[in-house]
Amino acid sequence: MIKKKGSIVRLDTENTTLVMKADTAEYLYYGRRLGSVADFGIFEGNPPRNMLSFPHRPDYTEPNLILCNADGGATYEFTFSRARIFAEKPELSELPSSYGESKTVEFKYVDLPTKVSLYLYYTVFEDCDVIAVSARLVNGSKKEIRVRRLMSLQLDLPGIEYDIVTFEGAWARERHKTERRIEGGVFCNESMRGSSSHQNNPFVMVKGDKGIFALNLVYSGNHKEIFACDTEGGKMRVLAGMNDYMFDWQLAPGQELQAPEAVMCFAPDEDGVSAQMHTFVSEHIVRGKWKKRERPILFNNWEGTYFNFNEEKLLSIASAAKELGAEMFVLDDGWFGKRDTDTCSLGDWYDNVEKTGGGLGRLAEKIRALGLSFGIWVEPEMISEDSDLYRAHPNFAMKIPGRTPTRMRHQLMLNLADERVQNYVVRAISDVIARSGAEYVKWDYNRSMTDCYGKGVPAGEYFHRYMLGYYRVVSRIVKKFPSVLFEGCAGGGGRLDLGNLCYFQQYWTSDCTDARERIDIQEGTSYGYPQTIMSAHVSASPNHQTMNSSPIFARFNVACGGVLGYELDASVLSEEDRKAIAEQIAFYKENRKLLQFGDQYRLRGANSAGFITVAKDKNSAIAVVNLLGWRCATPEPYIRLKGLNPAALYEVSADGKQFTASGDMLMYGDIPLAGIIKYDVARENSGCIQSRMYVIKRIKQG
Ligand code: GLA
Repeated sequence: MIKKKGSIVRLDTENTTLVMKADTAEYLYYGRRLGSVADFGIFEGNPPRNMLSFPHRPDYTEPNLILCNADGGATYEFTFSRARIFAEKPELSELPSSYGESKTVEFKYVDLPTKVSLYLYYTVFEDCDVIAVSARLVNGSKKEIRVRRLMSLQLDLPGIEYDIVTFEGAWARERHKTERRIEGGVFCNESMRGSSSHQNNPFVMVKGDKGIFALNLVYSGNHKEIFACDTEGGKMRVLAGMNDYMFDWQLAPGQELQAPEAVMCFAPDEDGVSAQMHTFVSEHIVRGKWKKRERPILFNNWEGTYFNFNEEKLLSIASAAKELGAEMFVLDDGWFGKRDTDTCSLGDWYDNVEKTGGGLGRLAEKIRALGLSFGIWVEPEMISEDSDLYRAHPNFAMKIPGRTPTRMRHQLMLNLADERVQNYVVRAISDVIARSGAEYVKWDYNRSMTDCYGKGVPAGEYFHRYMLGYYRVVSRIVKKFPSVLFEGCAGGGGRLDLGNLCYFQQYWTSDCTDARERIDIQEGTSYGYPQTIMSAHVSASPNHQTMNSSPIFARFNVACGGVLGYELDASVLSEEDRKAIAEQIAFYKENRKLLQFGDQYRLRGANSAGFITVAKDKNSAIAVVNLLGWRCATPEPYIRLKGLNPAALYEVSADGKQFTASGDMLMYGDIPLAGIIKYDVARENSGCIQSRMYVIKRIKQG
């Protein structure tokens, strides 16, 4: 709900309230929901602490706007023009954004000498306590201006006593939770790699004594979250938006620059933040036919074969997978051009008839004849120098004339800022999907940007112009194939962000498939994103990335925290593993709705970590608890569950045993993990995690 009284604008979600003063662009209050009698007279002529939603003029703290005016000056002085409430959220031009029934307030401010206008938008999503924010700058002057920074959201918070939580990592080690206190100065969480990155996800949290503010960005390119302590003003300024690294946008008279959408929420604790973000992503970001549909159990051949396969091998994996209960076979990298290694053929999206036994169309038919649907891997934004595409169109590649470009994984990127290249990619990839009839597409992206250059594109605009081109391409392709399930990927989870989730209903969480590592990666991801978007595969043991070994049930238990798949050569499994996998798949199918669409909570105890996924009606739940290591003669570990109905009685099954317990006992008591350490398993898998699954069913109403 949004209400305006004089210059006071009050935005309410189910559990939070944001109060703003339109004429001074100040935040008067943001936090727990206020009652209906809340009165803001106290602030008349007595502004709280100058908490600004943007600075009217540069104010010696990190600004959300840096301009270069035609008169050579860099200053501005914005005055309030108007505030309007819309029943529906206006679309963001050329950028992905959240959707759904959502009231929006628009604030307009004008710099009178130059007639440059700044529009700010605040949209409420009441069901999930999220407020979406964006900014748009319009050059109403008669001369070009340069924009050096335009952030999407500024949130000034009182005091500087906050802990900043970011989700950091690297390839195969994404989104590890990192918490730190900033006691002065400026701290940035950012990416300058051209993508949202493995290293610093745009989702961040700010923890204070009132609770937690969380922010994310609906954007897949360079981003920056700034936390600036203003010790004199006694506040913490939080900014989120496109990174201003190399940013210098030429805004001609009459033109506008739209900043990507940012989103924010407030909750008393971490579980509250995650619950809000999960609902927000599931309801207002992910879209299309697959939004609420149960996701298929797929077998992907990548870790099973890498580039080394032929039709016979693929069909043997697929038929073994089918026998185990799989629903889809996904053909990963290596099916096109002459791609037997990662040194060639990106861009040549035509079938390698030898490896695929006559082309994708024929192979897909054979896969379907086995009773599986067919999925395909592509990496549309890339080009190998050893490719027919490069030989015919070397200028399609992103590189600076006269310089040797930096290669990563031997490849270059395509210059998607160029419309001709965009059209090529749309044509080539649409043709792959059409001729294979693929029901699923894995859209990969395996390097960072360097050598940014496009003819006619100023260097200071390149990163963002690339993203606009990328969004044009991906949106055209997904629109053409509305029935296809799209999974995003970037060398694992290197571009897992809200921008991409507007197109891809799920995302390959990480190239690391080791259960032990996945516990942290999936747990970190779960702070800002629901399990429905987290692809999680059981792979071979010892694991190919870490060489750790773990038993098949532990690998499965961890993968149940996301969307289950398998990534191994199903045709060479031991009898024991075949039996186990068949049982796992049957169990997963029975519980898929709960596992994929239930409410998931993190479980952390001393030396243990896991999750519980609870059905919306709280009648059933599945919990997985992993012991991360153990030492001799340490106290027995225990766990507390979450999300159950405290008054209900549940039957709990684990490790072939059953017991009954009330919801409150399971949540507030300490459940001993006695017997979780299986010494025979440990002997075979030295140092492995010890994992247990609890299947919980309500037997008596609360
Ligand atoms: C990336 C992906 C992997 C696999 C390979 C293929 O690393 O993350 O899952 O598809 O590319 O080259």
